[in-house]
Parts: sequence; C-alpha cells; structure tokens
Amino acid sequence: MSENAASNKSHHDDPQPLSARPGAPLSGRLRPPGDKSISHRALILGLLAVGETKIEGLLEGDDVLRTAQACRQLGAKVDRTGPGAWTVHGAGAGSLLEPRETLDFGNAGTGTRLMMGVVGGHGISATFDGDASLRKRPMKRILDPLLLMGSEIVSQAEGGRCPVRLKGAAEPAPIEYRTPVPSAQLKSAILLAGLNSPGRTVVIETEASRDHTEKMLAWFGATIRSEPDGPHGRRITLEGRPDLKPKPVVVPADPSSGAFALVAALITPGSDIVIEGMMMNPLRIGLIDTLFEMGAAIEVLNKRQEGGEDVADLRVRACSLKGVDVPAARAPSMIDEYPVLAVAAAFAQGETRMRGLSELRVKESDRLAAVAAGLDAAGVVNRIEGDDLIVTGAAQVRGGGSVATHMDHRIAMSFLVMGLASQEPVRIDDSSMIATSFPTFRPEMERLGAQFF
Ligand code: S3P
Repeated sequence: MSENAASNKSHHDDPQPLSARPGAPLSGRLRPPGDKSISHRALILGLLAVGETKIEGLLEGDDVLRTAQACRQLGAKVDRTGPGAWTVHGAGAGSLLEPRETLDFGNAGTGTRLMMGVVGGHGISATFDGDASLRKRPMKRILDPLLLMGSEIVSQAEGGRCPVRLKGAAEPAPIEYRTPVPSAQLKSAILLAGLNSPGRTVVIETEASRDHTEKMLAWFGATIRSEPDGPHGRRITLEGRPDLKPKPVVVPADPSSGAFALVAALITPGSDIVIEGMMMNPLRIGLIDTLFEMGAAIEVLNKRQEGGEDVADLRVRACSLKGVDVPAARAPSMIDEYPVLAVAAAFAQGETRMRGLSELRVKESDRLAAVAAGLDAAGVVNRIEGDDLIVTGAAQVRGGGSVATHMDHRIAMSFLVMGLASQEPVRIDDSSMIATSFPTFRPEMERLGAQFF
C-alpha cells in the first residue's frame, strides 16, 4: 500500500442517521465495554514484551482493532481467543519489524500517538494515517519530543498532521520533558519511546493526566516512579531498557462509555439502573465528582479492585440536577465527558460553567463547537466565552433538532442520550462512529429501555 492509500474513508460517505425518542424510564443493569485507554495499552505492551500476554475484557471497538492490526504489522502475533479474550505474542522492545504498509489507525488518536512513541524508540520507519477526522488532529505535540530523542520526520502533511512518516531513533536519547498540554497520549508516547533509551526518561506534567501507561509499565516489570510535582502535577521517571515480561491484563469497564448510561438515567424521569464494574481511577472520574456536586442520585456500591484498578457498581436514579461551576483543573480527569456533561447541564436548574476546554477543540472533532451547535439545534441556551462553555439548563428540553456529529463518537452518543429525555426526538446525522468505542451502545441502551429509530 502506498503512503496515501490508507483507508481514510470518511463515514460521511455512508452516514447512518439515528434518532432517540423520549419514552419509558430506564431500568436494569449494564456493564460498559472494556476501557479504551487500557485496551490500547494492553496490546502495545504485549507487543513490547517477549512471550504471551493474555488480555481479558478487551474493548472490541474499531479504534482498538486498529491498534491490534498495527501490533501485527510491527511483528506481534495477535489473536482473539473468545469474546474480549485476546493473546499477544510480542516481538519485544528493540526487536520490532519495520511495517511494509501504512499503519492505518482509522479514527483513533490514542492508537496513533502511542504507536508513534513506540516507533520513535526504534530504528525503524513507519507511516501513520487514518480517516478524515484523524488527519485534522495535531501530531506536532507528539513529534516534538520524539525529535529531541533522535527521531526524524520523513514526511508529514501541513502543520504536523497525518499522514506522517516517522523514522525512529535506534538509540533514543534520554530526555526530561515538561508537557505543554496535560495529555496522557503525549506522556505515554514519550515513555514508550523511552523504553528503548539507554538512560532515564522524565516527563513532567502540570496537571496529572490518566496514569494507565505508568501502571501497566510497572505491572510488566519496568522501573517507573511517579511523584507529585506542584499542586496538581506529576513527575514520572522511567529507567530505560527494562526487561518487559508478559502479564495477564484484565480490562475494567470504561467510565467514558458508562457515562452515557449514567447521564441518561439521571435525566430520564423514573429511571433506576445499575452500571457494573465502572473503573473508578481517580484520574478518570471527574464526571462523577461533578455530577455529585450537581446533586445526582448516584450510589457507589461494591467497591473493589479489578485488573489493578479501583472499580465499583453505580446505582443511578433519575433526579433533579442543579448547575455548577466546573474548574479547569478538573478537565484532564473528565476530558472525554464534557459533551455528555453538557447534556446533563441542559436538564439542570441554572447555569453550568465548564472552564478551560481548549483541548476539546482538537479531539475527534472540535467538540466545543460541535456541542454548542448540538445544544443550539435542540433549543438549549448556551454560549462559549473564551475556552469556557456555559449552558443554561431547564427542567424541559425541547429537543427536535438534527445534530451534526463530525465523525465524533462521543458527540453522537451524547445527543442520542439527550433525545431520551427531551420533549421531541433528537436526530444525529451519523451513528457509524459509535463503533469506534462502544459497538454495543444501541442494543445495551435498548435493553435498559431506550428507544432509537
Ligand atoms: C487518552 C487520553 C486523552 C483522551 C483520549 C484517551 C489516552 O487524550 O481524550 O480519549 O488513552 O491516553 P489526550 O491525551 O489528548 O488528552
């Protein structure tokens, strides 16, 4: 396949509109699919360890399947042995193959960026590409530290965008790097490149981002330390060239997917559901903290550990919510949940101000613009001031609009959730992207009583 021949097909070529209508209360139990962040990392660490890594509960969404394919192209044997059960026979850090074809990550920013880190730490070249949404996303933030470590950019699209051809460093220089944005993808790319470095790699972040890479590297045997740095930050130190040993990985349920059922139950009158096995990693539960402040009826039950992460079952009942002020410092712990929080805010009494959302502009879509436009379409009063989104809630939301999803799974699911509780159905222009992170969204939500058409 040539550099530009990746299947960067836009799903707009074949859009699948879907509508949600208000109906009966939601009831029953749901286990969200495996966490997307952990699923990508499990496959990648499987690739980098020599021997067999067994994974249970892997998210079988398109984003993660793309990472599995990329691992194969880099020399791993990756097999599905049952539902959510996968094995990876790793090539081992330092022994990856140079892929002959483009690594096509579809819609997946996480897979792309983490794998850029992997390639950046090896003396091999690879071309990274994906769909029209991925081609708009900034990669310069990842490439900058990789260049410092000795990688070279062979080619790239304007402004540091995909398709990118990267030549990794055979002996990556150890660096100390302060990330300019709080991004777990950026932190992880540097750490993954640092695995093959002869020295210590240090990443400093001013706001702590999700720590799944650090935890999983430690689980696979790397020496890695994470210390507080400033009021909200971390300093992470990785010793290079660890001997990574395969370890079983159990993937907990994705709180970013569970968020849709959570908000749906809160805003759909009479609802009473249980969300099972939600990962409660403190760096992922900003939405739950915010919903508590809004007065949400959430009970945290049966707290336990699964796969090295805190998990719990959440009993969620419909209730009235009140508007709150969400501080910017909370953004990294709920970065993917703002679209669905905006939907909750539309049903809350008073104003909700969500501060410091600049990163939302560079997700699968410009989520700040997409959320505001979706709220407008559904008759919800909102405004953007700088990087803040302000939503004025009301007990009744009109709904009735058609929402442009811009190839963004979370915009799609958020506005379907809105349609379950608004006066008129809400239509989204394309539901196909939901398959990237939550392929069973529709049947699982229908089982709880949601009505889609
Ligand atoms: C992710 C990190 C976040 C998040 C993304 C998954 C990860 O992105 O939005 O969905 O798995 O590391 P950033 O690192 O760009 O904030």
